[in-house]
Amino acid sequence: MSSSTTGAKKTVTFTLDGSNRSTTLPVLSGTLGPDVVDIRKLYSDLGVFTYDPGYGETASTESRITFIDGDAGVLLYRGFPIEQLAEQSDFIEVAYLLMEGDLPSPAQLEQFRRGVTYHTMVHEQLRRFFDGFRRDAHPMAVICGVVGALAAFYHDNLDINDARQREIACFRLIAKIPTIAAWAYKYSLGQPFMYPRNDLSYAENFLYMLNAVPTEPYVNNPILSRAMDRILVLHADHEQNASTSTVRLAGSTGANPFACIAAGIAALWGPAHGGANEAVLKMLAEIGKPENIPEFIRQVKDKNAHTKLMGFGHRVYKNFDPRAKIMKETCHEVLGELGIKDEPLLDMAMELERIALSDDYFISRKLYPNVDFYSGIILKAMGIPTSMFTVLFAVARTVGWVSQWKEMVEDPSQRIGRPRQIYTGAAQRDYVPLSRRG
Ligand code: CMC
Repeated sequence: MSSSTTGAKKTVTFTLDGSNRSTTLPVLSGTLGPDVVDIRKLYSDLGVFTYDPGYGETASTESRITFIDGDAGVLLYRGFPIEQLAEQSDFIEVAYLLMEGDLPSPAQLEQFRRGVTYHTMVHEQLRRFFDGFRRDAHPMAVICGVVGALAAFYHDNLDINDARQREIACFRLIAKIPTIAAWAYKYSLGQPFMYPRNDLSYAENFLYMLNAVPTEPYVNNPILSRAMDRILVLHADHEQNASTSTVRLAGSTGANPFACIAAGIAALWGPAHGGANEAVLKMLAEIGKPENIPEFIRQVKDKNAHTKLMGFGHRVYKNFDPRAKIMKETCHEVLGELGIKDEPLLDMAMELERIALSDDYFISRKLYPNVDFYSGIILKAMGIPTSMFTVLFAVARTVGWVSQWKEMVEDPSQRIGRPRQIYTGAAQRDYVPLSRRG
């Protein structure tokens, strides 16, 4: 393979060894990030596919939404650094930014905020859907089922070729997911469902639906709702991660947006992805006390022990996850506000972080804390049970999923997603009747 620049345009030439076939492929440049080789003619020219399990080196789409520079620890939503958005913006404005492409004017923001706020109720019949689940069902199983079922309740916006219907479906998903998530929690507790309140902000309303009961007045704590808002902002989008790629793949078939987001929720559930914040707390509980940390780190470094330091490492970040830094600050703020002086989990997390950042195993593999390392401690301090952690992630990521889904549907070059494979199974052979076997 050789790379060259012809005029302003770069190309790469591939030659297939042992044949006289070669092809020159264009190199495409984005606004930021590495160039990519456009291999769309590779098979027709050379008769070979590319092989990239886990898609670590493959751009599956063009996107204008989110940019990550994993080596520099940079995350931009529509060009704006995550640190500035976490500090100065709020979740609804970030949702507008991700969906619409730019910061809103005051009037646009107000209209968007109303659009989300006035879709927060769910169909009353959907309420009864919850009764079909066992009380001890994992809330991810519940929200996956209920979000998928939205398609059965909102027939009026299932035409993905109609821009207005697409927009309403996106509003409905962003607006209703906190209601569905909070009700999944209330259902597990056996408490009455709290209906959304339109006088509260998105984060305040979510905390209200999670924590309020009809018998007591509810008092909003601005520090906690600000922390929740920040968690939502930090998790809102993360370019072509596993769940977003799942949403895009499902959407590429023309499936309705509710089905696609349900698919995204299913993909998010795994401990290597959205389930990691829950896994961090389980890990800290299993370690138990700081004296056990050296033995735990020994196990993590032992390949045969199959133990991972949860909340560490990332497919793209090979430096500090910028979201982890903000999470760590928020963690201290929340514990301070709640008057939690000695939180053994936080002490253990900080000790793990200190050891990992000075240990050659982690340094050489560029394993740094990711967004989930501190988020679980914050959520636990806020009284949210571990089983709800991934659900909160899903609430936030719904904004990213719908933005990416909308971008894909509106892209004229969009085709059904259909990866190829290298087949290593049996070559063609003849069926042997049962009577002639064994
Ligand atoms: N603890 C110990 N070793 C690790 C870890 C970890 N958390 N992560 C990666 N490694 C090792 C891995 O064993 C491999 O070692 P070696 O080269 O000796 O075989 C090396 O580091 C490279 O890892 P990899 O498996 O090739 O990395 P990946 O890009 O395939 O996996 C990951 C990324 C996030 C799945 C992985 O780092 C992991 O499982 N981390 C723990 C789970 C976690 O915190 N996930 C949340 C990610 S952030 C939120 C999100 O995006 O959902």
